[in-house]
Amino acid sequence: MSVAVPILRTAEEVRTTVDEWRRSGRTIGFVPTMGALHEGHLSLISKAFDHADSVIVSIFVNPVQFCPDEDFESYPRTIRDDINKLEYAGADAVFIPEKDLVYPEGFSTSVHVSNLTDTLCGKQRPGHFDGVATVCAILFGIVQPDIAVFGRKDAQQLAVIKRMILDLRFDIRIIGADIYRERDGLAMSSRNRYLRPAERMQATALYRGLSRAAELACKGERDTALLCQTARRIIEESPLAVIQYLEIVDQETMKPVESLDAPGLLAVAVHFGKTRLIDNIVIDPGANYKED
Ligand code: PAJ
Repeated sequence: MSVAVPILRTAEEVRTTVDEWRRSGRTIGFVPTMGALHEGHLSLISKAFDHADSVIVSIFVNPVQFCPDEDFESYPRTIRDDINKLEYAGADAVFIPEKDLVYPEGFSTSVHVSNLTDTLCGKQRPGHFDGVATVCAILFGIVQPDIAVFGRKDAQQLAVIKRMILDLRFDIRIIGADIYRERDGLAMSSRNRYLRPAERMQATALYRGLSRAAELACKGERDTALLCQTARRIIEESPLAVIQYLEIVDQETMKPVESLDAPGLLAVAVHFGKTRLIDNIVIDPGANYKED
């Protein structure tokens, strides 16, 4: 049976709640989200419980991480449904701040993580990762968790947050959670609901393309151009797919790699109509490939 999840609206409420947990000897896990929750988000909560005693989730559609031509206004907001899901997942509290609480009048700070934001989504979405790093720094400051969980689906975001934690000496352990997929391989995303039926069917090509490249790498192929070409060909068999980027990069620096001497990350962004999907797979030349 699920228990009602306390809804916290202010920084003070969060501090009181978290302090109370800490006083009773509990460690704190944190899962930041923008809501429109799906099983991928819930898998992060479950991962947080593997590493912490109490878990707090935040829901905040962060305006500063959306580029001017992006979907901030129309981003799905499904708060009632989200709260039900959090109760089902056993979250201990949910923090739902208003915009003015996160960005009060006079707010003038931006966190910029350089180098690893020059490629992939960072290149395509100018300012996006500044917005992500800034809001995460604010939320970390309010919640002060012991650990925070981020999904590997947004691999560049995970790398940016890890770098920020290191550089700004936040005392928080960042934990990566595996990509949670639909049965047909499509990575779960709040934006999947935008896909029209034909786009939804063709979107399975992303994972097919990525998996095929990973399989070839396991069989000994080291040439990243050839691996990318293989994935690209499979994705382009779907006429509605328009590839924005498809690259193999180093997992930490996010810089392109030419020959695979160590595991790399094959990352892709594809438009289906107005909907932009991202996905990735670790390409490990030393691993034995197995089908999921
Ligand atoms: P959002 O897109 O809501 O995602 C919240 C967290 O869920 C992120 O860590 C993301 O990587 C993870 N996630 C989403 N889909 C996933 C999937 N299929 N499998 C595993 N993890 C998945 O990412 C954000 O929000 C924002 O940028 C945020 C970090 C909250 C800052 O505003």
